[in-house]
Amino acid sequence: MPDAPLRDLAAARGLLIGTAVGPHWLDQEPAYAATLAREFNCLVAENCMKFMYLEPERGRFDFATADRLAAFAREHDMRLRGHTLVWHVQLPEWFRAREWSRAEALQVMETHITQVARHFRGQVFAWDVVNEGLADDGAWRRDSPWFKAVGEDYIEQAFRLAHAADPDAQLFYNDYGMELGAAKADACYRMLAGFLARGVPVHGVGFQFHLGAENRLDPATLVPNLRRFRDLGLAVHVTELDMGIKKPITDELRRQQAEEYATRIRICREAGVAAILFWGFTDKYSWIPSFTKGEYDEPLLFDREYRPKPAHAAICAALT
Ligand code: XIL
Repeated sequence: MPDAPLRDLAAARGLLIGTAVGPHWLDQEPAYAATLAREFNCLVAENCMKFMYLEPERGRFDFATADRLAAFAREHDMRLRGHTLVWHVQLPEWFRAREWSRAEALQVMETHITQVARHFRGQVFAWDVVNEGLADDGAWRRDSPWFKAVGEDYIEQAFRLAHAADPDAQLFYNDYGMELGAAKADACYRMLAGFLARGVPVHGVGFQFHLGAENRLDPATLVPNLRRFRDLGLAVHVTELDMGIKKPITDELRRQQAEEYATRIRICREAGVAAILFWGFTDKYSWIPSFTKGEYDEPLLFDREYRPKPAHAAICAALT
């Protein structure tokens, strides 16, 4: 079957299909903006809505770049996900430079969440309120400055603040490595079930899905893993899907990548995932080569010239 724009196939099925975006390329590269507008009905900022960019100095907010992205989304009838309010990475120097008491850290968190969520009210439909708060074994991530300063309840405090600032936004907890089930996904499930029982305003869970193409995900375990969150009444989004190929890359490995993309999309559909976002769309721009120190490459759906790869056709088929 010929490649069709993903957003047309997704919309017919009530699904959001999106990608992470770097706003500077929107203006610099016509093919970047054109591919984006044609293929996706949902966007997320790859970096420009993170703490260090939005609040570079304490109390001084810079929304210009993120506003550019929001305008592009509006112009092209796309939904905008917000990423991310509270995370232990990409924090500004002024925050990292010192220790904070609990009261001070909560004050910083309140100002940041309130200003940011209010600014984007009516534009961002879903926020990753807290990103990566759990360690791989399911314990709290203790190296987070938020955990160190505030303690265990920083996550629920963040959700309450976000809800107060934007009562209409869907509020998500987002993390990686929960695709394989086991301890981290179970801990997340228990945490969110506890939040719901105590009336903490949480509406969804984000599974990042950064896993190399050699990982064959098994629908028999992953579909029920995702579905149990839906059974709690939460929305499930796949938020950062990409799939690096281990070098040296061959056509056979590219074919396997396409197959695995189709499997993961089928898993999402079967589990009732409401939004699937890729962490970028062209192999020209991906964090994977540098993150994996050159071990992996070609993780996305379009090649460096914006031509659709076999993965794109396989995803079209899996969406049909
Ligand atoms: C990454 C970006 O892709 C990089 O450009 C940046 O240098 C570091 O952050 N999990 C997340 C994302 O939640 O925000 C990260 O994005 C990738 C891992």
